[in-house]
Amino acid sequence: MNIVEVNQLSKTFELHILHDKMIPALHDIEFDIAEGEIIGLTGKSGSGKSSLMKCLYRTYLATGGEILYYSRGGVINLVKASDHEIIALRRSEIRYCSQFLSVIPRVSAIDVVAEPLARTEKNRDLARSKAKDLLEALGLPTALWDAFPVTFSGGEQQRINVARAIIARPRLLLIDEPTASLDQRTKDVVIGLIRDLKQEGTSVLCISHDEYTLERLADRRLHLQSGQITHAITESI
Ligand SMILES: Nc1ncnc2c1ncn2[C@@H]1O[C@H](COP(=O)(O)OP(=O)(O)O)[C@@H](O)[C@H]1O
Ligand SMILES: [Mg+2]
Repeated sequence: MNIVEVNQLSKTFELHILHDKMIPALHDIEFDIAEGEIIGLTGKSGSGKSSLMKCLYRTYLATGGEILYYSRGGVINLVKASDHEIIALRRSEIRYCSQFLSVIPRVSAIDVVAEPLARTEKNRDLARSKAKDLLEALGLPTALWDAFPVTFSGGEQQRINVARAIIARPRLLLIDEPTASLDQRTKDVVIGLIRDLKQEGTSVLCISHDEYTLERLADRRLHLQSGQITHAITESI
């Protein structure tokens, strides 16, 4: 069963400040994601990886094509869905984990991580206790749990980001460079946490340049070159 089917997807940026210059970023993208499948998305900087991921999360609106998402409530074209439908899906099924933490001012690390679960479960204590488990597993020093992540290092912020993305057990996880600035031990923990999600049936699209991470996570790889998929390597895992 597929959870995502992408057909003839394209994205062109129109730069109004440059006299409506058109920048083609994605062209005729076609691929599926199966339930419980982890796809590694690779390609040089500027090849369109983040744009593709943002089209799936609908941060960017695709210019053409469709993205069929098989939600619990039925199939939804993410290109055409209303903002209201997209917000509901982001709350309940789809999580996006960017390379950078979008810092929430004056909220503690624990509450930043717990928030997606506290929102759905309305059970703040349970959410905070799961957040602590995740931060502990990821090796964030306990002294930082009640501190504000705005002052954290890159690697510490990345751990907060990953924990926040997985705490509510999404059906589809879109994750951009999850292990880029992590030490080996923490990298292995993140890989383990994502594999646990897969065991529960979560599908994952994972941008990575890290061969170690890709080898351990990706069932299959998609390679982008100048906004097009050039080849797909199938790997047995
Ligand atoms: N918001 C944007 N506005 C204009 N151009 C963009 C925007 N986001 C990405 N691009 C352009 O789209 C192309 C692909 O970028 P991106 O998706 O970030 O690549 P990657 O993640 O593979 O490094 C680049 O040429 C980039 O400059
Ligand atoms: Mg990118």
